[in-house]
Amino acid sequence: MSLENLDKALQAELETLHDEGRAKQPERIITDYLPAAGERGPRYRLQGEQKEFIRLNSNSYLSLSNHPALIEAADNATHACGVGPGAVRFIDGTYSHHIDLENRVAQFVGKPAAKIFNSAYTSNCGLALAISNKKTHWVGDQLNHNSIIRSMRIAGIPSANKSIFKHNDMDDLHRCFAEVGDDIERVIVVFDGIFSMRGDYAPIDQIQETADRYAHKYQDGVITVVDDSHGIGAYGDTGRGTPEFCATWPDIVVGTFGKAFGVNGGFIAASTTVIEAVRQKADTYIYTNPLSVADCAAATISLDICDSEEGLSLLANLKERTAQFRQGLSNLGLESIPGPHPVVPLMVRDTAKTRKLVNDLFNAGVLVVGLTFPVVPKGDESIRFQINAAHSKADIDYVLGVLETLT
Ligand SMILES: Cc1ncc(COP(=O)(O)O)c(C=O)c1O
Repeated sequence: MSLENLDKALQAELETLHDEGRAKQPERIITDYLPAAGERGPRYRLQGEQKEFIRLNSNSYLSLSNHPALIEAADNATHACGVGPGAVRFIDGTYSHHIDLENRVAQFVGKPAAKIFNSAYTSNCGLALAISNKKTHWVGDQLNHNSIIRSMRIAGIPSANKSIFKHNDMDDLHRCFAEVGDDIERVIVVFDGIFSMRGDYAPIDQIQETADRYAHKYQDGVITVVDDSHGIGAYGDTGRGTPEFCATWPDIVVGTFGKAFGVNGGFIAASTTVIEAVRQKADTYIYTNPLSVADCAAATISLDICDSEEGLSLLANLKERTAQFRQGLSNLGLESIPGPHPVVPLMVRDTAKTRKLVNDLFNAGVLVVGLTFPVVPKGDESIRFQINAAHSKADIDYVLGVLETLT
C-alpha cells in the first residue's frame, strides 16, 4: 500500500504547524568538538559553517561529556561486554554496570534504591504507570515538563483525578486539595525541581510542608515527586540539586544522566518497595532494551567525579561563570529571571525580536535557543542562555560584548 494519502494528510498538518509558527527549525549538525585551549573554552563546528561556535544551549552544565575518565570507562565497559545488551532487563539484559549505576545514584540522592531508564522522559512515564491506581489523584505545577504531562496521559489518569496549581503558587496548591474526590486514597504532588525555560526552582520545603499537612486525609498519604533533571549535578552546595538547595528531600526523585552528568539515561530513586513496583509495572522499563553498558559506566564515573574535589571545583566554576553572566546582563540593563541556576533567560518579550537576536548571536558564533509561543506564554518570549563549567571568563565576556552591540 502506498503512503501517498497518508503523506498528503500529514503534509497538511505540517503546513499548519508552519503557518502557526509552531514548527521546529531544521536541525543543525555538529561535526567537531574542539576542546578548551588556554583562555578559550570548548568550541563546536557545524556542517556548512566556517566559523567555530561557543555553545550556550547545552544542558551539560559540568561539561563532563568529553571528560577522559568517562570516555575511558565507556570504552572499557564496551570492550568487556559489547555495545548492546541483547535483550530487555528481565530477559538477561541486566549487566553489572546497570546495577552499579543504580546503587551509585541511589546513594547520591540518599534513597534506599533506584531504577535506571533510557531517559528521564521514560522514567516519568514509568513512574506514573507504577504508582497510580484508580484511587490516585495527581497534583502538578502548571509549568511541569512535557514528560510529566505526557506520563499522566500514558497512564490513563482521568481529568477528574488531576489538578494543576499556578506556577510555584502555594495558595493555589492548597486549593488543589479541595478538588480531590472523597474516594481518593493516594495523592501525588509532582513538580520540576528547576523549570528549564526559566531557571527558577520549586520551593520544595513549602510544597512538602503543604503535602504533610494533608497526608492524614488519605489512606496512602500525600507523596511528593520531584523531577530534578536540570538541578541534579548542577545545583546545591554539593550538586545534589534542588532538594539540597531547599534542604528538603521529596519522597521520590526523578532525574537524568543526560544533562549535568554529561551522559544519557534517567532514573527514579525511592524506597525499595516503590522501586520493585517500578520494576514490575513500568512498561517503559520492562519492554525496552536498557542503556548500554558504556552509558552506565560513564554515568557511574560522572557521579564519582561530582563527589570529588574536581567536581566541587567544576561546580564552583559553574557558579562563578553564572554569576558573571547574570551580573553582565544586569549591567547592560537587560531583563532576566533572578536566581542562581545556570539557565539564564534573557526576557525579550517579542517574537520577531527574539528570532532576530538568536540569528544575530549565531552570526557572531554564539549558539542559544529562542523561546517563543507556544513553548512559553505570549509576552514571555525569551532567549535561554545556559552556562557551563567549561566556559571561561573570556567566553562569558565575549558573549556579553556581543549582546552589548546587539541590544
Ligand atoms: C524536567 C525535565 N524532565 C525530563 C527531561 C528529559 O530528560 P531526558 O533527556 O533524560 O529524557 C527534561 C529535559 O528536557 C526536563 O527538563
